[in-house]
Amino acid sequence: MKKIILFCGSVLLLSIFFGTIFSQTKKVPSDTLSVIHSRKSVRHFTGKSVSQQDLIKLVKAGMAAPTAVNMQPWSFVIISERKQLDALAEVLPYAKMLDRAGAAIVVCALPEKAFQGRIEFAIIDSTCAGENILLAAEALGLGALWTAAYPDQERMSQVRKLLNIPENIIPLNVIPVGYPTFEDKPKNKFKAENIHWEKW
Ligand SMILES: Cc1cc2nc3c(=O)[nH]c(=O)nc-3n(C[C@H](O)[C@H](O)[C@H](O)COP(=O)(O)O)c2cc1C
Repeated sequence: MKKIILFCGSVLLLSIFFGTIFSQTKKVPSDTLSVIHSRKSVRHFTGKSVSQQDLIKLVKAGMAAPTAVNMQPWSFVIISERKQLDALAEVLPYAKMLDRAGAAIVVCALPEKAFQGRIEFAIIDSTCAGENILLAAEALGLGALWTAAYPDQERMSQVRKLLNIPENIIPLNVIPVGYPTFEDKPKNKFKAENIHWEKW
């Protein structure tokens, strides 16, 4: 009897111990609303690289976004080489966290492919793709954030130059992706005063 109690006690202690460790290292939300509310801009990364498989999953999530008349006016540049990530960090003043990110994705808007050839649709559609990538990163236990290229001409030009992106393509953003240090937390932005029922 004593042996059984001892055994059960040990199992309980071990499961508490590993449960605590596990919950601290892998806080991956599973349902859609939890993913949406857990998403945050992650600016602190461990430096670990991100697998090609996960990068493809992120871009695939981007391509699942809605677009006007289903034109899908976008392309994605995936960057995983340390040298390129550091070069981007060098030229983008508000994307210095790239020096610790494991990879980056640049969402590019293609006005010529957009509905009615309009730049506005290209930007709106590609923005939907960008948000999908941010949410997918959260769902995979990765950290990410939107850093702006568009509409800043200087930043767009630097990104184009470094990544060989043609002039008629708009580099919308640079999304650093990596393993989070868990220093960044989601903000509660719910404001009842921003809701209008039925009329403004
Ligand atoms: C269009 C756009 C441009 C942004 N540009 C930058 C940027 O250049 N650098 C940066 O650190 N964060 C940037 N952010 C992230 C915002 O600062 C962040 O989303 C905002 O503070 C809200 O925080 P949250 O994402 O954690 O909810 C950008 C976000 C958007 C949507």
